[in-house]
Amino acid sequence: MKIKLAVLPGDGIGPEIVDQAINAVDAVCEKFGHELEYKKALVGACAIDKTGNPYPQETHELCLNADAVLFGAIGSPKYDQNPAAKVRPEQGLLEMRKKLGLYANIRPVTTFDSLIHKSPLKEELVAKTDFMCIRELTGGIYFGKPQGRSEDGLTAYDTCVYTVKEIERIVRLAYKYALNRNKKLTVVDKANVLATSRLWREVTQSLEKEYPSVNTEYLFVDNAAMQIIQCPKRFDVIVTENMFGDILTDEASVITGSLGMLPSASIGTHTSVFEPIHGSYPQAAGKDIANPIATILSAALMFEYSFNLKKESEAIRTAVNDAIAEGIVTEDIASDKIAYKTSEVGRWIAEKIKSNPIT
Ligand code: IPM
Ligand code: MG
Repeated sequence: MKIKLAVLPGDGIGPEIVDQAINAVDAVCEKFGHELEYKKALVGACAIDKTGNPYPQETHELCLNADAVLFGAIGSPKYDQNPAAKVRPEQGLLEMRKKLGLYANIRPVTTFDSLIHKSPLKEELVAKTDFMCIRELTGGIYFGKPQGRSEDGLTAYDTCVYTVKEIERIVRLAYKYALNRNKKLTVVDKANVLATSRLWREVTQSLEKEYPSVNTEYLFVDNAAMQIIQCPKRFDVIVTENMFGDILTDEASVITGSLGMLPSASIGTHTSVFEPIHGSYPQAAGKDIANPIATILSAALMFEYSFNLKKESEAIRTAVNDAIAEGIVTEDIASDKIAYKTSEVGRWIAEKIKSNPIT
């Protein structure tokens, strides 16, 4: 098959980790006989520096015309430390999500047996954790209007908005995933305080009867934050609004031992985007030390979700598992003082993809 990718490395460690994901994609394409074509484009702080726009039209068109988008990370201390900046790198990511209609962000949370000891949580607690967080991505407080400051500058406001249509769309998707998994859906909200959360409950309650084989439960977000750490194995599919999903998935990454391990897929009405859940880690930029695994696993999700190529996806996952089992990993998860470089880990995984037998 012919695969046309838009590659958006972004800022900080983005370019380094994306290069390694491309190595993995290249290896898979070579192994399974696919033809890969990819083009890079600017997004985030580097796009502001070059064009003044964090999501240039040219980048958007490249994404629209691609079969899938591979995304690195965005963000820069230059903007983080300047809250008065009018144009911010994150606006690029949000605009891309909105313009591509990426309403669902799927974040699988699984542990790796050979990494369990790296989790700050007790081994017996986290072993065999396997759940999926489905985060609504184009609504809520990230996008609600009005947002801004009063004229005298003394008051700031953000608005959380959800429509029935938006909620129904994401909850139905979550039910679809639950049906294919262990048939348990947890809706995370703050219905004891927020009107939007009460609407989430109302809409989900009306959908429940259409999915009688799925066990639906409702958890307040503060309680969910606690239970994700206390008993992660109790979860199967979690569905939640934009900001709760952002926070809970960073928390969930601790279970796996490193923020550098969790991939994600953003899907919606146009081209899907595959990106690690972590940020641009500017302190590590250019040092060849960042963990490329979350981005490489995002490429695995891409083969499965965008192209329905499950063997290709599995080939990447197997090679990643092999790297972890053999200790070919970066410093964040290295145990025996031997830490490998980003590029060494990436190249090892690419070679392993090629040399492993096809299963
Ligand atoms: C994420 C990130 C983004 C978000 C930032 C960079 C805007 O934290 O993808 O989780 O908050 O959605
Ligand atoms: Mg986040």
